[in-house]
Amino acid sequence: MDSTRTRKQLIADRVAGLSPSGIRKFFDLLASLEGVISLGVGEPDFVTPWRIREAAIYSLERGYTSYTSNYGLPELRKELANYLRCLYSIEYDPQGELLITVGVSEALDLALRAILNPGDEVIMPDPCYVAYSACVTLAGGTPVPVPTTVENGFAIRAADIESRIGVRTKALLMGYPANPTGAVLTRPELASICDVATKHGLIVISDEVYARLVYDIEHTSFPCLPGARENCILLGGFSKAFAMTGWRIGYAAAPREILEAMTKVHQYTMLCAPTVGQMAALEALRSGENDVVAMVEDYNQRRRLMVKGLNDIGLACYEPKGAFYAFPSIAATGLTSDQFAEKLLNEERVAVVPGSAFGSCGEGFVRCCYATAVPDIEEALRRIERFVKRHRMP
Ligand SMILES: Cc1ncc(COP(=O)(O)O)c(C=O)c1O
Repeated sequence: MDSTRTRKQLIADRVAGLSPSGIRKFFDLLASLEGVISLGVGEPDFVTPWRIREAAIYSLERGYTSYTSNYGLPELRKELANYLRCLYSIEYDPQGELLITVGVSEALDLALRAILNPGDEVIMPDPCYVAYSACVTLAGGTPVPVPTTVENGFAIRAADIESRIGVRTKALLMGYPANPTGAVLTRPELASICDVATKHGLIVISDEVYARLVYDIEHTSFPCLPGARENCILLGGFSKAFAMTGWRIGYAAAPREILEAMTKVHQYTMLCAPTVGQMAALEALRSGENDVVAMVEDYNQRRRLMVKGLNDIGLACYEPKGAFYAFPSIAATGLTSDQFAEKLLNEERVAVVPGSAFGSCGEGFVRCCYATAVPDIEEALRRIERFVKRHRMP
């Protein structure tokens, strides 16, 4: 090795070239301040329901501490197949079409690494979850963002996808209900996207981690659409619906050949998802339904409070139908989303995430997570109102 190389030069180009998550910067700042109300972190404020925790504790008492099958516990895969059948009338064989992963995060990474050759392009909405573009790059691919707008409810449109398809396009990666916008896609919108994907032979990676968190609508799972299943990798997880972010359990459902390829990567890198987490996930599927319904009802109340509050303040906010984020426009202030978030944190001790962290089309917006206690949302809204009054454009 050339001893004159600096430490920096030792870092792989594709990693060195990644910019750090725009979210992390804020959390570092936030950690150094007191009295902050955080609308920043995208995670439930509920503790995992007791029965789920108890099942995990009991599994430890019984000594379930070894590796599981690479694919995940057979009982969990069987229960998961039932769950997907009951919710969406879709069939996945627990033997070879379902893989239990370390959160949706791992499932996403596996999907991309299993299908991408260097330089393959992956189409994705802009704005979108911060990890999408980075994971595509890390897997050797090239992210191709498709702008979405508030006028269209931040829904990615089939025609915009089609216009960006070229010879290197391999996949479409999308997550609806969406982080950071709370956008959802209707069944006809999904069907048009499916037509385009089928016509051009694209693999669709459908991140449905927020599938259970929808309000006054029904979620349509992408692979349920006629003709969609065979080229779809469905990603789902327990973090959001069951308030289980720290357990790190997710899953991928895909046709056998694709799932086999993902499992190859998984078995050499992860071996299996944490056993105690899998035990907890099994209990979640068996007995967690009422808890999910109760939490969704709670989020719905908070959603209404947050969206009305932001609109009353003068930060125009379209109605998000899913996830637990509001994505108001900050145009009334004339600040950039970075300036808005930084000043709001320093002046009023409220943490939101700048929309620009999610792609260039997120500029002009901020993400406010309403998975926060109602009194905190109310106080945050009072503080934001004071802030906007001071910074309103003349
Ligand atoms: C759209 C989206 N996908 C995936 C994840 C990661 O989920 P998990 O905790 O299952 O890894 C998140 C987390 O915020 C997310 O917002």
